[in-house]
Amino acid sequence: MIPQSFIQDLLARIDIVEVIERHLPLKKGGANYFACCPFHGEKSASFSVSPTKQFYHCFGCGVHGSAISFLMEYSGLGFVDAVKELAALVGMEVPQDDSTTPRDRSHEQSLTEVMAQAARFYKEHLKRSRPAIDYLKGRGLTGEIAARYGLGYAPEGWHALQAAFPDYTASQLLECGLVLENEQNRRYDRFRDRIMFPIQDQRGNVIGFGGRVLGKGEPKYLNSPETPIFEKGRELYGLVQARQAIREHESVLVVEGYMDVVGLAQFGVGNAVATLGTAATPHHIQKLLRLTDRVVFCFDGDAAGRRAAGRALEVSLEHLADNKTLSFLFLPEEHDPDSFVRAEGPEAFRSAMSRALPLAEFLLAELKKDIDTGTAEGCARLVHEAKPLVTRIGAPLLRLQVIKMLAETAGFTQAEVERAFGIEPSRPPRLPSDDDNPRRGGFRKDFGDRPFGSRRSRGNDFPRIPPRQAPQSPAEALLKVVVQHPVWAARLPIDLLPDDTPEGRALIAITDAMSVGDLPTHGIGALLEHYRDTPHAPLLARVAGQLADTPFDDGTLELLFNDTLNKLEADAISRNIDRLTAREREHGLDPAERRQLAELLLHKQQLKNRPKASDS
Ligand code: UTP
Ligand code: MN
Repeated sequence: MIPQSFIQDLLARIDIVEVIERHLPLKKGGANYFACCPFHGEKSASFSVSPTKQFYHCFGCGVHGSAISFLMEYSGLGFVDAVKELAALVGMEVPQDDSTTPRDRSHEQSLTEVMAQAARFYKEHLKRSRPAIDYLKGRGLTGEIAARYGLGYAPEGWHALQAAFPDYTASQLLECGLVLENEQNRRYDRFRDRIMFPIQDQRGNVIGFGGRVLGKGEPKYLNSPETPIFEKGRELYGLVQARQAIREHESVLVVEGYMDVVGLAQFGVGNAVATLGTAATPHHIQKLLRLTDRVVFCFDGDAAGRRAAGRALEVSLEHLADNKTLSFLFLPEEHDPDSFVRAEGPEAFRSAMSRALPLAEFLLAELKKDIDTGTAEGCARLVHEAKPLVTRIGAPLLRLQVIKMLAETAGFTQAEVERAFGIEPSRPPRLPSDDDNPRRGGFRKDFGDRPFGSRRSRGNDFPRIPPRQAPQSPAEALLKVVVQHPVWAARLPIDLLPDDTPEGRALIAITDAMSVGDLPTHGIGALLEHYRDTPHAPLLARVAGQLADTPFDDGTLELLFNDTLNKLEADAISRNIDRLTAREREHGLDPAERRQLAELLLHKQQLKNRPKASDS
């Protein structure tokens, strides 16, 4: 048996998009990726992969599951072999069971192994170098943080690495950028007398280094060149260390420097990552939005910071979604994140973070910067210059908001601006309300059941409300919400959940697991794996399938969640009223019971009068 904890660690480390992409060409469409389904013959791409849910689903044939089930289905592997294959991808060792044979390790050192070896060497030398230790101490870092980020020290001398690599002529050393060659083809170490910041990929492999001089000197930072394993525009420094904190804070902070990441972590702000001396790229944005719904970019308060923010804004527009927020934090001119957190403390930093400028506001502020909206010319120019940016916003509702704000600022109507942008004037999106339902008062459970073919097309349409489904029970509705957002299980009133239906029993199991901190919260795939081989597995798999590519955002789900909780409460009250009135008919009620009945009736009335969250 492979322990469940290992399965969950593994699923948290891998990315299902990357796993499936090794086998199928995936195309991005909205928040998900699509391909022609490998499990049934088809010409249109109905096979979808959700990075946030870590889950795949085919609208055509209905297959779905986690990265593990994909490998089982696609490669015909057994469960254990599928787990092993995934583990190998991220360099994790599957805990041994009796039947496994030790891995054959006799193959040639790969580039990542060379880098790992170098990282160990630098780390070892940090322990022995007083000046390097003093430098890091002087910058306020503890040994613990230095260890967490694997910091090291590249010793002085031209061939120090020879101690770590007896074959100093190996081609990998050059390929990894650890050594350079002069005109006489003589090799020497690239990094000498520098503090070393190892750069890891998402799987924890060391793929590059940044090296800082101790004190003053040029260049301040020396970086690994791009190599077959290191592409700067795709990698983020500190991601592996930040992942847990990103999940906990449900947000990621993007800064510019190695020291900013490490300095913030030293002060307890652990959810920061850095771009590697480049502006943020679309790859970065995509990677970040796969991890979390909230991205805060942090820039220095000077003109250069403002320019960098402008570039980050531009590459972000296409990748926006209505359930994601991007914002921009500008620090006082004299500070970078490291110096700010050191001077003002983590609370001040977090509070500054919470006041970061939302993307739409930053966009409008940038557009208005040099324009006089007091003149007709200025207003026209504002809309003209906004067009190429606003029309690229990938989030339909946010785009609508920006258009409205723009129209107001420039003294146009919304429709006029939309026409100027060459887009069809939009109808406002509708949220579901009770009026849609012939059975008034019944709870409608139409979220998530998006039929095949209604996938969002590119363009300025809005999430469509799927056709009406037969009403479902509160437990069914709650199960959908909780499968999509396991953390919300913490809000379920466990004593009100019915244990006489499979849905109710699954909800109880999930709520129980949540309450003891045993519930995986990194996506539907992980949740399904947690319940593999339990009585809940088939039901959860079916619900997960229905949820695939849900057209509703978190806000709408939240409304439905709250309404359903109210309904559950109302149902429980009605059941108790029925019980008491039946008893009253049979042999009357004692005073306590009569009081209880009166209270229940009153409570029921209050619930009825309480406005529905989804009506507001
Ligand atoms: P900064 O010069 O702002 O560095 O460069 P910093 O993070 O404040 O560093 P400290 O506090 O002086 O140690 C930000 C980032 O730009 C890249 C590095 O990635 C650095 O982290 N950079 C900077 C270079 O690649 N080379 C340089 O010479 C300078
Ligand atoms: Mn700095």
